[in-house]
Formats: sequence, C-alpha cells, structure tokens
Amino acid sequence: MNLLDLIKKRRSIRIFTGKKIPEEELKQILEAGVWAPSGCNNQELRFLVLEDITPILEFKPYLKGVSHFIIIFCDTSLKGSKMYKNKNQRHLKFIDTGLALQNMVIFAKSKGIDSCICNLSKYHFKLKGKIWEKILRRILIKLNLYSFSKSNFEYIVRNKLKIPKHLEITGAVALGYGKVFPDLSIAMHDGKKIKRNPVDFYRL
Ligand SMILES: Cc1cc2nc3c(=O)[nH]c(=O)nc-3n(C[C@H](O)[C@H](O)[C@H](O)COP(=O)(O)O)c2cc1C
Repeated sequence: MNLLDLIKKRRSIRIFTGKKIPEEELKQILEAGVWAPSGCNNQELRFLVLEDITPILEFKPYLKGVSHFIIIFCDTSLKGSKMYKNKNQRHLKFIDTGLALQNMVIFAKSKGIDSCICNLSKYHFKLKGKIWEKILRRILIKLNLYSFSKSNFEYIVRNKLKIPKHLEITGAVALGYGKVFPDLSIAMHDGKKIKRNPVDFYRL
C-alpha cells in the first residue's frame, strides 16, 4: 500500500479483539514515535506503555480489548535551553506529542495494528459519578485542587501508576487489533460524519 493510501485507511477504532501486539512490533511503534521531529531538538517526550489497561477503562470504558495503552509525558525537569520556557514555545510540547502520536498510529497501521488517540489529561475524571460529585469536580478544577480527588486522572497517574510529577501528561493512544471498523458512508462521531472534504475545502 502506498503511504497516502495508508494514511487514508487509518481509522480511530473503539472496539478491539483483545489480541496482543508482539513485543517487537510494539518496540517499533515506539521507535516511530521517538523519531518524530522535536521542537528545539528538546527530545522531551517520555512514553509509558501499559499492558494492564484497568486504570484507563474507568475513563474510557470502550477501550476493553485494547492490547496496550501508551501515555505520553513531557519531561519538565530538563534544564536550560532544553526546556520550552518562553510563552511563545509553551505549545510546542503538544505539537511534539501530536507528531509522535501520528508517527505511531501510521506505523502501527502499516503493521495491521489499529489505534485510537485519546483525550486524557490532568483535568479528566472517571466517568461514573453522582451529580454532586460532578459539581464538586468542577469546583476542584476551578480551585486547581483536582489532583486530590481519587477519581481524577492526574491522581491515578501519580498514585497508581507511580509517575513522578516532573512528567506532565501530554497525550495518549490505545493500540490493538480492531474488531469493528467504521463504514465511512454512515459512521458518525460527535454528531459529525467521519469523512474528509476534498482538499479544496480546506485550502485557503
Ligand atoms: C487530539 C485527539 C483526541 C482524540 N480523543 C478521542 C477520545 O478521547 N476518544 C475517542 O474515541 N476518539 C478520540 N479521538 C479520535 C477522533 O474522534 C477521530 O480522529 C475523528 O473522529 C476522525 O476519525 P478517524 O480518526 O477515524 O479519521 C481523538 C483524536 C484526536 C486527534
């Protein structure tokens, strides 16, 4: 398959078979991520590979059947010119993360491995929660106290996954073998069809 076809064939998958990705291919997927461009050549990203995705399922229940879940972090302990200090650089860790994610999902697809990039941040809470808990969560976010709640993703990352504070969550991706693939002629996500318009639509 040529590269453009591969890019077009990749879909975000939300139902997986449970089959495990061989270690060698997992390593290569990470290698593809590591070789993404890096702003200022900072090389600040770190990758946590979870084989037991139990902690993630409470945030993203549809991911059961996923083989591995990867959380990407920015190492904020890097000193001097190695860190994005200025305001005009602070978004670069997220660009770097996106580039690494895209390298990984495209390479994975080339190996027949499916993926779903996931929005998971320090502001996320477990899905279950009574109305009053949801109100409390909003207040905690407003007061910058969210990470004290045991149902907060940042809390889980620090306490269950034992990740030190200098590693800031910047992105995540689920990897595995898809069971159900969206039919693009009808599939919707967030109320919108999963399609792309012709290039002219996007070109200014
Ligand atoms: C930054 C980002 C965050 C995303 N977060 C989620 C998510 O939390 N859950 C999910 O099911 N899909 C998530 N997606 C996948 C998008 O919904 C998907 O890319 C979009 O619907 C287009 O479908 P496609 O990837 O199959 O082309 C995310 C995608 C990106 C790029």
